Amino acid sequence: MSNQSIGIFDSGVGGTSIFKEIHTLLPNENCIYLADSKNAPYGNKSEQDILQLSIKNTKLLISKGCKLIVIACNTATTNAISHLRSQYNIPFIGIEPAIKPAALNTQTKAIGILATKGTLSSQLFHKTTDLYTSGIKVIEQVGEGIVPLIESGKLDSKDMRALLEIYLQPMLEQNIDFLVLGCSHYPYLIPILTKMLPEHVKIIDSGLAVAKQTQAILSAQNMLNTSTDKPTINLFSNGDINILNSILNLQFDVSYLDF
Ligand code: DGL
Repeated sequence: MSNQSIGIFDSGVGGTSIFKEIHTLLPNENCIYLADSKNAPYGNKSEQDILQLSIKNTKLLISKGCKLIVIACNTATTNAISHLRSQYNIPFIGIEPAIKPAALNTQTKAIGILATKGTLSSQLFHKTTDLYTSGIKVIEQVGEGIVPLIESGKLDSKDMRALLEIYLQPMLEQNIDFLVLGCSHYPYLIPILTKMLPEHVKIIDSGLAVAKQTQAILSAQNMLNTSTDKPTINLFSNGDINILNSILNLQFDVSYLDF
């Protein structure tokens, strides 16, 4: 069991930000990553569609013998994780916007959250937000258009900077000191955001927390891979593999798969 792969999926290339954190923390683990770029973005789809796509990805990872699945997508986690946990008998790790650390540490009592429509409108997101943000202003912003730009290879582009300027403006007017990145595609924007935001605004994402949770669950269930062999890492995309290769700087084995 322990040498079976960790399965990871996202609506596209963004979840590789989570995969990289997992690979850094757990370098012995074999991993299979699915980039469902053909169906990106998930963020504007109905809850039912997001659920069906999450089931499709889960079934494929299970058929490849994965021992645990990381849903490296906030939109799929907030809309589908309870169902997946109730239907499949393997552990699922999800990703949610890191509202809690931002709310606990804000000095200005104002935090910004950039995420997809699907995440911001989900019940799970509202539950977490209500739990931790009493007395704190939460400026929510749907990142409309960001994922399609990343998925079409226009990460560092004029169009991207123009969108971000519009989205950050209301947050800066409210004097936020934390910006929560609530979508696994967005950590790739950190170099651009750092240049656009005042120095006192801290950016947080959930990647490391997800990797640590994956380690904790594997360890608790005695499923950590103790082999010191070089791990097998396979990343599959049902879209343009050049985009996946370019976001990963050609560091991993990427292939096309129709799923
Ligand atoms: N990367 C995903 C997330 O974390 C989904 C973005 C999308 O497909 O809209 O939410």
